[in-house]
Amino acid sequence: MNINPIVEKAVNLAKAYHSSDTTGHDWWHVYRVWRLAKYIALHEGADMPTVELAALFHDMDDYKITGVHNNSLANAREALKELHVDNLTAQRVIRVIEEVSFRGAGVDTTPSSPEACVVQDADRLDAIGAIGIARAFAYGGANSREMHIPQEKPQLHKSFDEYKSATGSTINHFYEKLILLKDRLNTNTAKALATGRHEFLLEFLNRFLEEWELKDIDNPVRGKK
Ligand code: ADP
Ligand code: NI
Repeated sequence: MNINPIVEKAVNLAKAYHSSDTTGHDWWHVYRVWRLAKYIALHEGADMPTVELAALFHDMDDYKITGVHNNSLANAREALKELHVDNLTAQRVIRVIEEVSFRGAGVDTTPSSPEACVVQDADRLDAIGAIGIARAFAYGGANSREMHIPQEKPQLHKSFDEYKSATGSTINHFYEKLILLKDRLNTNTAKALATGRHEFLLEFLNRFLEEWELKDIDNPVRGKK
């Protein structure tokens, strides 16, 4: 594979940083986001070095991994320093990373650059579909969240603080974030990829709730294709 030496170094830094994660933010999440981001950027047009570095470093300072809520992006800044990229590129990458994350159903996170649109879409695509489902339950288990609490209603959080401090079930997280993502994508390339992944989320939710209610007692062969 023909890979630019700066990106190669960035890959190694990201791999080392995310190597032992078990919350759905492991190196393979970053790898998939990087690949998706490159694919979307090729089709949509965006500055590729900025997209690649932002994708590779996008989760280094996420409170869900670091456990601390601070906006300094110290880990990503340090990684960019190690790469000796010029100041302008570093600033662009940091700006993209600042705009990537979901912050609650009621919070506007529209990105301000084509590069941020691409990386945000790539990250969101990895939160839906089969992999998104696996990641949600991995995150939920690692963070002591129950799978499903039937009597609890989903909350459409109005602020990032409300969203961050929520402790609801993983099934509710589907209604609070995952099934909303398809309509919050920026690029047509990502929207096309999201259709099948979104449908799979809905199918999973249906099946989960059907089995929970023992609806398959009436029709045990349902689903055998
Ligand atoms: P973002 O920064 O936009 O949240 P990430 O790459 O950090 O994107 O992905 C967050 C991952 O963590 C997703 O896969 C999501 O399903 C999972 N996650 C976040 N909050 C919860 C939660 N409350 N319950 C279950 N999974 C969660
Ligand atoms: Ni991510």
